[in-house]
Amino acid sequence: MLTCVGAGPGHLDFLTRRGAELVSNADVVAGFDAVVDVVRPLLLGDQQVVTMGYRDQVAKLAEVAALHHAGKTCVVVFMGDIHFSGFQFLERVETACGHPVETVPGISSAQMLASKGRVCFDETTFLTFHRRGDLTPFKTHLRDVLHAGRNAIVIPRPWDFMPKDVAAYLLTHGANPAHKVEVWENLSRAEAEWTGTLAELEGRDFSDMSILLIRALMPMLTGLEGEA
Ligand SMILES: C[S@@+](CC[C@H](N)C(=O)[O-])C[C@H]1O[C@@H](n2cnc3c(N)ncnc32)[C@H](O)[C@@H]1O
Repeated sequence: MLTCVGAGPGHLDFLTRRGAELVSNADVVAGFDAVVDVVRPLLLGDQQVVTMGYRDQVAKLAEVAALHHAGKTCVVVFMGDIHFSGFQFLERVETACGHPVETVPGISSAQMLASKGRVCFDETTFLTFHRRGDLTPFKTHLRDVLHAGRNAIVIPRPWDFMPKDVAAYLLTHGANPAHKVEVWENLSRAEAEWTGTLAELEGRDFSDMSILLIRALMPMLTGLEGEA
């Protein structure tokens, strides 16, 4: 059996109990170095650990797939939730195995940011640019989301579509410069790394572990106004 498990982001506190159980009971635990480091306290002495980076991920996943086909119970850990900015890695896992695999969701950095920024999913669109390939449809979608009066939680793409590039794109495509923006670099902190307007975001640099909340110009009505 091979299961993909969402872990984090960045801290063991945000791993589900089911995910923790799968990690501790696996023969083989694999994933990107930083994510495996998050679950390391759950590892037992006799488990095989396969860590990887962007460059060797295909070769390392082939190694994990071979162990899986040899009958080992394998877990591949993903940063945050698999379903947000994780599907290309999932595709790589399934290509290596030659079949679909089980997934266990995790808590996403987007969910954590929604909590810190106090925005609800109903009024907020999650968008990631942290993916290979053409970003154009996602950029257009972001522009339309803001135009429609929704908040946006955005994962940038290191290093060609970072927060300042997101701002530059939106401003040249008609977004209002007054949108309030928060950039968080480390979601375990209590405060945002930076807050300001879309106009003020242009030209500012952040790390590759940054995530943005772009607020709608006007909060939506809650639907409870005037209730006795
Ligand atoms: C490939 S995406 C994976 C996202 C992940 N699947 C999730 O649900 O959070 C990696 C990006 O997520 C964002 N991210 C993940 N953890 C974060 C954290 N603790 N603080 C800020 N951003 C984070 C950063 O933008 C990072 O480059």
